[in-house]
Amino acid sequence: MRIIEVESYEKMSALAADIIAAQVLLKPDCLLGLATGSSPLGTYDGLHAKCQAGTLDFSQVRTVNLDEYCGLTPDNPQSYRYFMNKNLFSRVNVDLANTHLPDGSAPDMQAECDRYEALVESLGWPDLQLLGIGHNGHIGFNEPAEEFPVRVHTVQLAESTIKANSRLFDRIEDVPTQAVTMGIGAIMKARRVLLIAGADKREIVDRAFRGPVTPAVPASVLQLHRDATVILCQG
Ligand code: F6R
Repeated sequence: MRIIEVESYEKMSALAADIIAAQVLLKPDCLLGLATGSSPLGTYDGLHAKCQAGTLDFSQVRTVNLDEYCGLTPDNPQSYRYFMNKNLFSRVNVDLANTHLPDGSAPDMQAECDRYEALVESLGWPDLQLLGIGHNGHIGFNEPAEEFPVRVHTVQLAESTIKANSRLFDRIEDVPTQAVTMGIGAIMKARRVLLIAGADKREIVDRAFRGPVTPAVPASVLQLHRDATVILCQG
């Protein structure tokens, strides 16, 4: 595992966008695993700028997102599908039909989990998986637990996650308490993993990548990944 420390959010975002762009150049029809949240916003701005400049082509790229809130329809402005359409998909020349997220509004969530697991497998697992990290060490919505959950599953969000995510809602009561997430299995099967972490994540990055591998800190499993890069902001 490589840990690259950079001075600022802007440098982190520029480097992450360069790494993703290089992946797309190497394999134009690659499968990108994508994340939502504050961490990748600058990266998505960088990908948008490269497409605008004509140096990046998303026309054959396929994408799978890590997670989605349960109970929100894709057109809900708080849904992760909405976030992705707004912050990336509408700004690059990706074919929307090639972009995939779990459906948090599916009537049968177990069937939805099975469908999404089979879909990611049928697409051949991500060539590159972009990740953020929660203050409690979650990746996707794999929250601290007694075991690493392998497959796509629904999860009760930790109090700290609900609190952290409430910044994007009018009231904390509006934050969904459950989500559907890719498991650790799909993340570990990605050929490359790129985790980006702002300066506020220093402490958890230390615990996750310089401490023991344990499901109590889910991101720690990435120490066992064959090609994982972490970009950490110093300030
Ligand atoms: C989002 C996701 C989460 C976030 C994490 C960090 O799709 O999978 O694991 O990456 O909660 O969120 P931010 O970047 O908002 O600090």
